[in-house]
Amino acid sequence: MTGFTITIDGPAAAGKGTLSKAVAAHFGFAHLDTGLLYRAVGAKVIAGQDAVEAAQSLDPSDLDDDSLRTPDVAQAASKVAVIPEVRAALVEFQRSFAARAGGAVLDGRDCGTVICPDAAVKLFVTASAEVRAKRRFAELSGKGIEDSFETVLADVKARDARDMERATAPLVAAQDALTIDTSDLTIEDAIAAAVAAIEAAR
Ligand code: DC
Repeated sequence: MTGFTITIDGPAAAGKGTLSKAVAAHFGFAHLDTGLLYRAVGAKVIAGQDAVEAAQSLDPSDLDDDSLRTPDVAQAASKVAVIPEVRAALVEFQRSFAARAGGAVLDGRDCGTVICPDAAVKLFVTASAEVRAKRRFAELSGKGIEDSFETVLADVKARDARDMERATAPLVAAQDALTIDTSDLTIEDAIAAAVAAIEAAR
């Protein structure tokens, strides 16, 4: 199957990553976590590089770094993501990934609206800020990162505001996206809902 693209957008810690990996594994599609691109640029900015130059010279090997998962890098990613030149530099890589033979799942914020407006299936995965902060808190605690719940909730809300209010490619559900609210769903239920929507479109 050539260029069968599934986009999964939504706010921080809504369950996009888990859902995308499960969907990609279920259908045998490749998966791109597009947030990693912005995180890699954010990490380079923390290290002193200019954001636009970092985005223009990004190498796929920059994405394989566990340190990209820290809260500081997440905030830096959300900040560089408001810069139109940074976003523009990352478009081509995402579109070629989406077009690969065999199918692709892209998760992020603007995959269904800007990167792949013609995707075969668009999902918008969301959950309340409190539920998302609880999940992120548990995830960070599991990695030994000791932020308080209040700090994690404030971080989630700050990223939501920045991601939704920016002028270029803000976080918004595509008009033709199916919204899955995972606040009261088990991960199995969320995966089943996503798989059913994709099966229906194949
Ligand atoms: O999905 P994530 O939490 O790893 O994303 C980190 C930040 O990157 C997010 O707060 C905003 C930005 N981002 C974006 O602007 N567009 C995307 N497609 C993916 C992420």
